[in-house]
Amino acid sequence: MKGDEECVKFLQWCLPRMGLRWKGFRKVRRQVCRRISERKAELSIASLSDYQDYMLQNPSEWTHLRHCCRVTISRFYRDRAIFNALRWEVLPSLLKSHLHVRSLRAWSCGCASGEEPYTLGMIWEQLAYKECTLEIVATDTDRELLRRAEVGVYGESSLRGLPGIWKDRYFEVREGQYRIQDSLRTPIAWFEQDVLNETPVGPFDLVLCRYLVFTYYGLDLQEKILSRIAKLMNPGGALILGQTEELPMSEAFAPWIAPLRIYGRRKNDT
Ligand SMILES: C[S@@+](CC[C@H](N)C(=O)[O-])C[C@H]1O[C@@H](n2cnc3c(N)ncnc32)[C@H](O)[C@@H]1O
Repeated sequence: MKGDEECVKFLQWCLPRMGLRWKGFRKVRRQVCRRISERKAELSIASLSDYQDYMLQNPSEWTHLRHCCRVTISRFYRDRAIFNALRWEVLPSLLKSHLHVRSLRAWSCGCASGEEPYTLGMIWEQLAYKECTLEIVATDTDRELLRRAEVGVYGESSLRGLPGIWKDRYFEVREGQYRIQDSLRTPIAWFEQDVLNETPVGPFDLVLCRYLVFTYYGLDLQEKILSRIAKLMNPGGALILGQTEELPMSEAFAPWIAPLRIYGRRKNDT
């Protein structure tokens, strides 16, 4: 318990210095504290207060600490009500307003090992629109997660939220591992990008930015990144957050399905 208290104190000191907020880390602090403890051991530093001194004397250490504070949990069909709303309301509405174009473009920001963009691909496949394609750009800062996304092989636990019929339809099972179907890979382009410094080339009709910026980042960074996202979106497009997240005040977005954290890009504001 003492270790937890010390680590909480340390996190409350260091997170705001990295533009991150304690509120987002409260529930996931144990994995973050474990990583910090491993880093301390690597440096042969005994206590968190010594590590704090070390941080102050070695600015390059902040890069390591930032790495320790990266939360990578994801799963297929996470927040199923949100994906169902995409399936039944948002995507059909976007298609209706884009009858003149042959493709919609989506960005999955912080895509982890691909669970989110592949789920979007499944939903799109179920809509079975032949006249229009969906291009998905998926970005993450973690190279190893992106490699896993491209390999597209998952254990049972990543798929626990998926209906059985979806598992049969979209995966091939080999030796207890689930391999994503090739047709779901084709529409996705993967890029290693840090959202703090870089964004993909727009414009996008749909942006999924879930359990990254609006959970872990402080308000300043949230606002900065939100304004970049707004500039990358077509008017009338949809921005999707995680179920537990909130959008900061913004002229550029209006609630579309507010309880599900789905927002529409306003037509006239930047
Ligand atoms: C908690 S996961 C969320 C994954 C997925 N969006 C979801 O909702 O299931 C956060 C992801 O964001 C990635 N990430 C963290 N910091 C990032 C950054 N600065 N730029 C891009 N991706 C980042 C992590 O590597 C991780 O894969």
